[in-house]
Amino acid sequence: MKILGIDTSCDETAASVVANGRDVLSNVVASQIEAHQEYGGVVPELASRKHIEAINFIVNKALAEANITFKDLEAIAVTNRPGLIGALLVGVASAKSLAYCHNLPLLGINHIEGHIYANYMVHDTLTFPHICLTVSGGHTLLVEVHEGWQYKVLGSTQDDAAGEVYDKVAKYLGLGFPGGKIIDDLAQKGDPSAIKFPRPMRNSGDYQFSFSGIKTSVRYFVEKAQRAGALVENGQEDAKDTNPDTVTVEDIAASFQAAVVDVLTYKSIRAAKSTGAQAITLTGGVAANSQLRASLKAAAVEIGAEVYYPPMNLCTDNGAMIAGIAYEKYKHGLRDNLSLNAAANGSIVDV
Ligand code: KG4
Ligand code: ZN
Repeated sequence: MKILGIDTSCDETAASVVANGRDVLSNVVASQIEAHQEYGGVVPELASRKHIEAINFIVNKALAEANITFKDLEAIAVTNRPGLIGALLVGVASAKSLAYCHNLPLLGINHIEGHIYANYMVHDTLTFPHICLTVSGGHTLLVEVHEGWQYKVLGSTQDDAAGEVYDKVAKYLGLGFPGGKIIDDLAQKGDPSAIKFPRPMRNSGDYQFSFSGIKTSVRYFVEKAQRAGALVENGQEDAKDTNPDTVTVEDIAASFQAAVVDVLTYKSIRAAKSTGAQAITLTGGVAANSQLRASLKAAAVEIGAEVYYPPMNLCTDNGAMIAGIAYEKYKHGLRDNLSLNAAANGSIVDV
């Protein structure tokens, strides 16, 4: 059963054909990063326009790479929530038109459910219930995932998403956009204990997160160091050997990352422990983070749990995860009609 999955929730125009939920026949993504780079973040209006330019081409490419035509499809699935409203609308309008023209069933899918499903597509041994940590530029969510794709949301961020904070910190340090990978790489050369940044809500006793405090703290630290002429640009991490009063960009990156990873690891492990889940899955763009992966793995060993993460092309936004979860929903009878609308918000328990 082949389903076309479309995702235009943020700054990637994505379409994919997946057979039976797991067999990815094509997975095409047009990234808009270059268009947003000069603004240091995603510009919603620009994202919508770029989606309009790309969507037909990307959908056709997904079908061509899967070596099929619309006649071979069972259904069309599209992310309709949550995300940037103008961006979502492009995917929804496209999916509705295609479903109408080709007389195919239409399914509106929650983007977060797609992220959660991504690990299941590639890990046969994944058990239920498991804990899923979704960390991206737009989301930070800890969810208990039960058989039959039933969810209990344990906690989410009260302010900025983890990836958003990576991007902002990279901006303060003049490192470019998106910042996650850049900071991850620089952090490998820095000392994570050089600066003690706060760990907001680490000991709040619940599963909520807050990252804007870390962000502000890094910002003040960077500004102060700049004023004092003590900030050493990246690539000169040996500078403090000659002047111990200086602080390197590598140390700031490593110390910032240590704070974020500490909180994410602590709460994910606590959730697994208290629910008895044997597995923790990581998904979303920040799931690519080397330190987060290593830290979670090390902590999970101590409680006898497994850690899973998908390959990079299923971690970041893609249409395959949408077609994947759509297959499960389709089997259970979900169908939407042509009045399907997009929504900027949308919790996963309301589905
Ligand atoms: O899932 P994604 O591609 O898009 C959405 O936001 O939905 O995630 C992008 C985010 C960006 O904030 C980016 O900086 C972050 O994921 N990211 C990383 C890494 N690679 C990407 N954050 C930390 N470490 C990384 N290696
Ligand atoms: Zn996403």
